[in-house]
Amino acid sequence: MSDLIALETESLKAIAAAADEAALENVRVNALGKKGTISALLSTLGKMSPDERKAEGAKINLLKEHVTEALVQRKAVLKNMALEHRLKSETIDISLPPRDSSLTTGRVHPISQVMDELTTIFADMGFSIAEGPDVETDDFNFTRLNFPPGHPAREMHDTFFFNPAADGTRKLLRTHTSPVQVRTMLSQKPPIRVICPGRTYRCDSDQTHTPMFHQVEGLVIEKGAHLGHLKWILQEFCKAFFEVPSVNMQFRPSFFPFTEPSVEVDIQCSRKGGEIRFGEGTDWLEILGCGMVHPNVLRNCGLDPEEYTGFAWGMGIDRLAMLKYGISDLRQMFEGDVRWLSHYGFKPLETPTLAGGLSG
Ligand code: DAH
Repeated sequence: MSDLIALETESLKAIAAAADEAALENVRVNALGKKGTISALLSTLGKMSPDERKAEGAKINLLKEHVTEALVQRKAVLKNMALEHRLKSETIDISLPPRDSSLTTGRVHPISQVMDELTTIFADMGFSIAEGPDVETDDFNFTRLNFPPGHPAREMHDTFFFNPAADGTRKLLRTHTSPVQVRTMLSQKPPIRVICPGRTYRCDSDQTHTPMFHQVEGLVIEKGAHLGHLKWILQEFCKAFFEVPSVNMQFRPSFFPFTEPSVEVDIQCSRKGGEIRFGEGTDWLEILGCGMVHPNVLRNCGLDPEEYTGFAWGMGIDRLAMLKYGISDLRQMFEGDVRWLSHYGFKPLETPTLAGGLSG
């Protein structure tokens, strides 16, 4: 009996003294493991008479219970202690200023910079941002935008298609940001004023084309919206974006299935010495496509063309970045070369603002 009490005292002492979970596991194995002290006691029961076994068995089992309970409690305490230690040692002081190294070496990619600039300019005109998925349905990318099945304009998009689903429909990588127009008209009530920047994909690659590129779409749906509003918005945008006091723009008739009339816009520039400058010169450079939203598109998106009109435009963000920042090869933009980025990138804390200057 006194042996059992001594063993219990000793075990409980060892448990209390275990400084971490590994030490505690050692104590457990020494007591309750196959060759442990308590297991050894239990194995003596087999040689006892039934009466003895009944009396001794109860005592040994009580001892085992006490030790097991103490182990469980100590384990919980040690676990908590370990967690607290980790939380203390891994604390991050988020009020610290950024390290010098990230400010001097980290750079914002020109595409992200231009997206921030676009957002700043259009937010000031009351636009919000709309987004859609890169993997689109044929319906949203083409059909509802008034590209009927088999329409030749579909072929011009060099589309990446996914394998057809069981029902015959095919998903695709969106070839333009225009499907976000459809999504926006289906999910919001006019008046609508959104821009939709994002990734787009076409099977094409050379100095001025990459299979993945970026576009920004603009959409306004409002009673009485007309081409004059569109023209003003684009003019204000170009002045703000290229950071010049005035720009001459030329609106040429064009064709897009989803707009009627459709227009392409050129801005005046000079190319003296191979350098493009806006707001001066006698050359013209095409920068975007736009037009009044086609009545079929309005109808396909649940709007009555008798009640609402609207206009839309689409521009290549990569091209805007190349023009503004003198980048000559589009492909380099997506090669992930840090030397390129440290040359063309922007300091992380120089966020574009209209008051403080867009490009620092
Ligand atoms: N989605 C066209 C393209 O990728 C660009 C575009 C043209 C968008 C005219 C428009 C628009 O919203 O009105 O070529």
